[in-house]
Amino acid sequence: MSDQYKFNLAEADIPKAYYNIAADLPKPVPPTLHPATHRPIGPDDLAPLFPMGLIQQEVSAERYIEIPEPVREIYKLYRPTPLIRARRLEKMLDTPAHIYYKYEGASPAGSHKLNTALPQAFYNHQEGVKKLATETGAGQWGSALAMACNFFGMACEVFMVRVSYDQKPYRRILMETFGATVHASPTDLTNAGRMVLAEQPDSPGSLGIAISEAVEVAATSGGACKYSLGSVLNHVLLHQTVIGLEAMKQMEMAGEYPDVVIGCVGGGSNLAGIAFPFLQSKLVPPNNKGTRFIAVEPTATPSLTKGVYAYDFGDTVQLTPLIKMYTLGHTFVPAGIHAGGLRYHGMAPLLSALYDAGYIEAVAVHQNPTFAAAVQFAQAEGIVPAPESAHAIRVAIDQALDAKARGQKRVILFNLSGHGNLDLAAYEQYLDGKLEDYEYPAEKVAEAMTHLPRVQEKAAA
Ligand SMILES: Cc1ncc(COP(=O)(O)O)c(C=O)c1O
Repeated sequence: MSDQYKFNLAEADIPKAYYNIAADLPKPVPPTLHPATHRPIGPDDLAPLFPMGLIQQEVSAERYIEIPEPVREIYKLYRPTPLIRARRLEKMLDTPAHIYYKYEGASPAGSHKLNTALPQAFYNHQEGVKKLATETGAGQWGSALAMACNFFGMACEVFMVRVSYDQKPYRRILMETFGATVHASPTDLTNAGRMVLAEQPDSPGSLGIAISEAVEVAATSGGACKYSLGSVLNHVLLHQTVIGLEAMKQMEMAGEYPDVVIGCVGGGSNLAGIAFPFLQSKLVPPNNKGTRFIAVEPTATPSLTKGVYAYDFGDTVQLTPLIKMYTLGHTFVPAGIHAGGLRYHGMAPLLSALYDAGYIEAVAVHQNPTFAAAVQFAQAEGIVPAPESAHAIRVAIDQALDAKARGQKRVILFNLSGHGNLDLAAYEQYLDGKLEDYEYPAEKVAEAMTHLPRVQEKAAA
C-alpha cells in the first residue's frame, strides 16, 4: 500500500450526471401532500415556489440526471474536491483503522452547500426568475446561495436565524459581499415573522420560522422571486451526489472500499451526498458490500433518534406542503447550540425512508465531545472543521477507537462538509469551558406531536 495522503481527480472527472437514488428504492417515498386537501401535490402546486426544471428533478425516477454545462463550468472552480486519508489522525489515535475524509470545505463558500446552490440558481435563471429568497441557520447555506445568485446575476434575500445572526456576524458580511440582503429572523417584514414576534418578542428564531418568512416572500412576489431550500428536498440531495460519485472514484484510487460511511445530518443533504452512490450497491442485489451508513445528529436536535416518522409541515407557520419525514414537530424551537445548520425539526424524506427501512443508522452526540473531536482533528490534520461537520468527526473517531479495541482493520469514510474558520467564536466558548450539553426532553417531543397534522395515510396514497 502506498503512503499517499491526497487522492485528487482531474477537472474532466467532475461527474457529468447526478445520481438519483429514487430509481433504486425498494418502494417509492410516500408522496408530498397538499396542506389543505391532504392529496398528493402536483407540479402546478409547487410552481409558485420553484422553477419547473427543479420540480421535474424533485419527482424524477431517472437514475442519472445530466448536470447542465454552465453548472459544471462553475464546479471547476473547486471540484473535484480532495479525498484525504487522515494518516496523522490515525497515528494520533494509534488505530489500525484507515480514515478517509472528503473535504467539501474546499468550496469557495466553505461548505458542500454550493453544490446545490449553483444548479438551483441556474434553473431559476434559465426560467427568468430575478430573485431567490431563502433561510439560513449558520449562514453556510445563505453564503452559498448568495455566491450562486451573484454568478448568475440574480438578487438574493436571506432570512438568517436570529441566534446565528448574533453569533456569526462574519457570515452575514460574506453574504452581503456577494450582494445579498440579510435579515435576522423572525422579522417584522412578513406575516409569519410578525405572528412569531407577537407571541415571543425575543424569539431566538429557528430554521422553521425563517423558512416560513422566505416562502411567504416568494409566494407573494407574483413570480419575480422564487424560494430556494438548502437541504431536505429530493432535488437538493440529488445535487449533492457529486460528493459520493467523486469519492467512489477516489476510494478506488486508494485501493479501498469503505466499511463505514459517516455524515452529520441537519436536513440530510451532505450525508445523502456522500452516501447515496455507495448505498446503491446495498439497494441493488447482488452487489451488497455490507457497508454501514451512519447519520450523526446533535442530542439537542434528535429528529432521527427521538422523532417520529409522520407527515408534518416543513416550516413553523404551516405554509409548506406536508412531508413524510422523521420530525420533532414543526413547533420545535431548538436550543442555541453552535451547530446552527443542524437545528432543523425534520429530516429529508429520502433519508427518512431509508432510515425507516433500516438502510441507515443514526447516532446522537453532545456538543462538548463533538468539539473535543473537532479540536483533536484540527490538531492532527490542520483543518478547523465546521461545528456541524464535527459531529461526523466525533463518530469517525469513535469508530476508529472501536476498531482499535477490537483489533480490527476498518475503512472509515466521512464527509467533512465544511470548514469552521468563521465559527471561531464557538471554538472560543468550547475552549473556555462555556458550552453546555443539552438533551432534548422526551416530554417536549411528545407535546410537539400533539400539533402534527392528522393525515389519513390511506386516503393520501
Ligand atoms: C457545514 C455544514 N454541514 C452540514 C450542514 C447540515 O445540512 P445537511 O444535513 O443538509 O447537510 C450544514 C447546514 O447548514 C452545514 O453548514
